[in-house]
Amino acid sequence: MRILAIETSCDETAIAVVDAKGGLKRPRFKIVANEVASQIKIHRPFGGVVPNLAKREHIKNLPILFKRILKAKGLKLKADIIAVTVGPGLEPALWTGINFAKELAKKYKKPLIGVNHMEGHLYSNWFLPVREIQNSKFKIQNSIKTIVFPAIVLVVSGGHTILLKMDSVTKRKKLGETRDDAAGEAYDKVARLLDLPYPGGPEIEKIAKRGNSEAVQFPRPMLNQKNYDLSFSGLKTAVLYYLRDNPLKAKSLKLKADIAASFQQAAIDVLVAKTMNAAKEYKAKSVMLCGGVAANKALRKELKIQSLKFKADFYAPEFALNTDNAAMIAAAGYVSFLKKKKLRLTAQSNLSL
Ligand code: KG4
Ligand code: ZN
Repeated sequence: MRILAIETSCDETAIAVVDAKGGLKRPRFKIVANEVASQIKIHRPFGGVVPNLAKREHIKNLPILFKRILKAKGLKLKADIIAVTVGPGLEPALWTGINFAKELAKKYKKPLIGVNHMEGHLYSNWFLPVREIQNSKFKIQNSIKTIVFPAIVLVVSGGHTILLKMDSVTKRKKLGETRDDAAGEAYDKVARLLDLPYPGGPEIEKIAKRGNSEAVQFPRPMLNQKNYDLSFSGLKTAVLYYLRDNPLKAKSLKLKADIAASFQQAAIDVLVAKTMNAAKEYKAKSVMLCGGVAANKALRKELKIQSLKFKADFYAPEFALNTDNAAMIAAAGYVSFLKKKKLRLTAQSNLSL
């Protein structure tokens, strides 16, 4: 089955074409085309995403990406279904994708499936290893994986931090989530405190490499609590207080790098400990990481080491599938289609997993 997917929940306009097979037991996906137009440069001067600017850019980019896909791949629209993100996300941004998808569904007379963006992140781990060719264009290798359950999944994005247990491709239970800021949000806020540009996650990761992660002892919120909830706002406030007592000077690059590395280590310690506690309690056979923060190499490395030590398989999507893209929306759309799950085709900014 061929799926055309559209994603506009935040600041990436994305369209993908994905071939899916294997049913709900062992779904397999092959990326035919995957286009992402990032708006980072447009939002950067504002230090975060401006919803109406995002809307304007999505409206501009969607037809361009769609034409590019048709042209590059010589595809007539042979998709069997169209999938579109309906939430969670920024309402004006979500509507642009939904309206565009509705028009296409009408024009080509195809079924339209509403997709939960977070399910997109979740199923991004079902893609096979991809080979990056250039920017956002990549090719897929041949099949290898069968994911063994139960799996513990850590979803870490800009808006959400959720720990899940999956017993099959479609059966999942939420074990815990953040009580305040999401992990990505904490990265972005701390980056702002350090005068680093938006989005802060990759910037912190970059300078943290030059810093000493033991330079400052930041708190590890909720680390020792026997539950699977997380909290990041206290950690961010600890960075704020530290900077108030130790202000950055023009040349304090070393201090910046030490704070970034120490903050990152505190966040990773909590994320990895909570995930591994769940893996142990539920005797997980697999551990999965997904969402924008899954692009963080230090987090991937630490969670991989701990998972393998525990003899669980470790999965994290290829780099380009961590941050927002439409290929993952196609994968989640396939699962929803087979499950006959029907989400309303309206923007649902607070849709949960
Ligand atoms: O999943 P995503 O693209 O969008 C949402 O659904 O929210 O995640 C974006 C978040 C941002 O907060 C960004 O700072 C963070 O992912 N991020 C990272 C890295 N790359 C992106 N955080 C830490 N390290 C990274 N390398
Ligand atoms: Zn996302």
